[in-house]
Amino acid sequence: MDKAAAIKRIRKLRASINYHNKRYYQLDDPEISDVEYDRLMKELIELEGLFPQIDVSESPTQRVGAAPLAKFATVSHLTPMLSLANAFSEQDISDFEERTKRFLGADEKITFVVEPKLDGTAVNLIYENGAFTVGATRGDGTVGEGVTQNLKTIESIPLAMKKTKDSPPPERIEIRGEVYIETEPFRKLNKRRLKEGEQPFANPRNAAAGSLRQLDSRITAKRPLEIFCYGIGVVSGKTFKRHWDVLQTLRRWGFRVNPHVKQARDIQECIAYYHHIDKIREELPYEIDGVVIKVDDIEIQERLGSVSRSPRWAIACKFAATQATTRIKEIKVQVGRTGVLTPVAIMEPIKVGGVTVSRATLHNMDEIEKKDIREGDRVLIQRAGDVIPEVVKVILSDEHRGEKFKMPETCPDPGCGSKVVRIEGEKAYRCINIACPAQIKEHIAHFASRGGMDIEGLGDKLVAQLVDTELIRDPADIYFLNKENLLSLERMAEKSATNLLAAIEQSKTPPLEKFLYALGIRHVGEHMARVLARSFKTLDGLMAATEDDLLAIRDIGPEVASSITGFFGEQSNRKVIEKFSKAGVKPVEKSHPKDARLAGKSFVFTGTLGRLTRNEAKDIVESLGASATESVTKTTDYVVAGESPGSKIEKARASGVKIIDEKEFLKLTGRE
Ligand code: IVH
Repeated sequence: MDKAAAIKRIRKLRASINYHNKRYYQLDDPEISDVEYDRLMKELIELEGLFPQIDVSESPTQRVGAAPLAKFATVSHLTPMLSLANAFSEQDISDFEERTKRFLGADEKITFVVEPKLDGTAVNLIYENGAFTVGATRGDGTVGEGVTQNLKTIESIPLAMKKTKDSPPPERIEIRGEVYIETEPFRKLNKRRLKEGEQPFANPRNAAAGSLRQLDSRITAKRPLEIFCYGIGVVSGKTFKRHWDVLQTLRRWGFRVNPHVKQARDIQECIAYYHHIDKIREELPYEIDGVVIKVDDIEIQERLGSVSRSPRWAIACKFAATQATTRIKEIKVQVGRTGVLTPVAIMEPIKVGGVTVSRATLHNMDEIEKKDIREGDRVLIQRAGDVIPEVVKVILSDEHRGEKFKMPETCPDPGCGSKVVRIEGEKAYRCINIACPAQIKEHIAHFASRGGMDIEGLGDKLVAQLVDTELIRDPADIYFLNKENLLSLERMAEKSATNLLAAIEQSKTPPLEKFLYALGIRHVGEHMARVLARSFKTLDGLMAATEDDLLAIRDIGPEVASSITGFFGEQSNRKVIEKFSKAGVKPVEKSHPKDARLAGKSFVFTGTLGRLTRNEAKDIVESLGASATESVTKTTDYVVAGESPGSKIEKARASGVKIIDEKEFLKLTGRE
């Protein structure tokens, strides 16, 4: 291949890999198999090796896929990363201006730049001759942790600075910015963690910081991290006159700078900006905790210098958080599916940010000890976005305080009571009794849930009843229930029992990925279940896999691999799986649509179809990449109406959804 052809092919491969990275890591919806992906990557690596004169700095080969680190290197910042003094009111802001003027002596005119203050984690990025070489966390301001590999997985961090005519990349420059996670992706991330039996992050800031400090960069790659750059440290061979010029140049070099940054002529404009941003803050897709006011003129900045690790030329103006005070009536301990004990504060109901709350998460024992939270305490709580409220701190009064909180030594579930342990190196306390009723209930409810086997009518309450009456002890027992059993339950009517048994029967041939997710194996969430199903095709194939077989699959790290082999190696789990097979539960491999002409479309069926059964129609839809759902919503694309359709037709008309008959459906799907 000649160079021109190679360049063309490389360009194509890079675009294609970037696209598939996005589908895989960000959308959790890969379109090609791992094998196909690996083939593309291999070809690109080979071509780049054959033509070393072609620039690789922006190539996806440079972004993900490094082996996990044993620990982070320490990185000394070339210039210290300072923090900011705080202001909480207009008065504080005016005082800041007053102080600045006094320090400068003469009655100098000072102008400012104002910026939103993102609530994430600060990083320092070093670029040498335009190439990103080293990235670090803030650490103690002087020395941070080298998280270069992880930072490289963040798409909005350029691997190479853009070349511009008037500002060529300096020989060396430190770029400073805030890595953060947007509110909506944060919510999704936490939802997924809960489903996978992991502790949710307390807030987007913790999630961003935690994600950046992963030793395995493949984990970081899957977290929706973003960056806004707001300044520079050392820079060789270039001076800037104004901070504003720094921000504009950063933009031209290809760095993300917050679109709300603004120049302000005087402190009054800064105050107006502070109020304005506070007003629109709920509409921003990320959390901010205030605005930063910076003196624009860099020469003046230098004259002002810094004091106690904060510059005199800048200040953080914090917003009043959505906080409130209340009293903790009781600290309860909940047991999750994986046995983790989570302490929860039951509080006197209180309104924060327009919502009445009566529970707050206390996260874990470390958190309680650090804040010394006890029953009966008056506490300051805060709610960020839709996140579960948390206790910020105890407001001590003179009253006699309750005892220090202790994690129970035995499982709080009345039917369990076995010993609680804390595993070395883990924050969490766990009940490790596999027969713990609380865990069993959570486990079975997860098994039957929507994302799992989707057994309609088998919700939390009914599962609890079935476990309490000892009708079921593990998920496989569900398939041995009969009508007599069900009717013996309180409040169970004939019709519900019949429906439930039908739903159970219907769930016997689940797609393998649903079944694997339903099993509740640690670290196997919906996405991982899909990966496993695609790679192994059958349950037996997966059960026979060794850790090495698993590690050979992209996206499976050592933790996941050992969790899977551990799960299937466990005698009691194998017994349950045998029981499934005795009951006739047969996971099937879901065939992937070859013809995706209806990709992404959603269908709702109503009424009786003439030529097809409802299930056949659904299969057709799915084989073409579309989905069939039960209820009509604004996002429904087609309602297919058969004989004597139900109220779904009215709903479709009201929402303006397209209604078609069976004939049109057959045409649309190429069956006619
Ligand atoms: S300037 C010397 N600008 O706030 C100037 N910081 O308390 C130091 N932050 O560690 C930082 N948005 O993590 C600056 N627009 C912004 C910022 C910002 C968020 C964070 C940053 C820093 C902390 C300072």
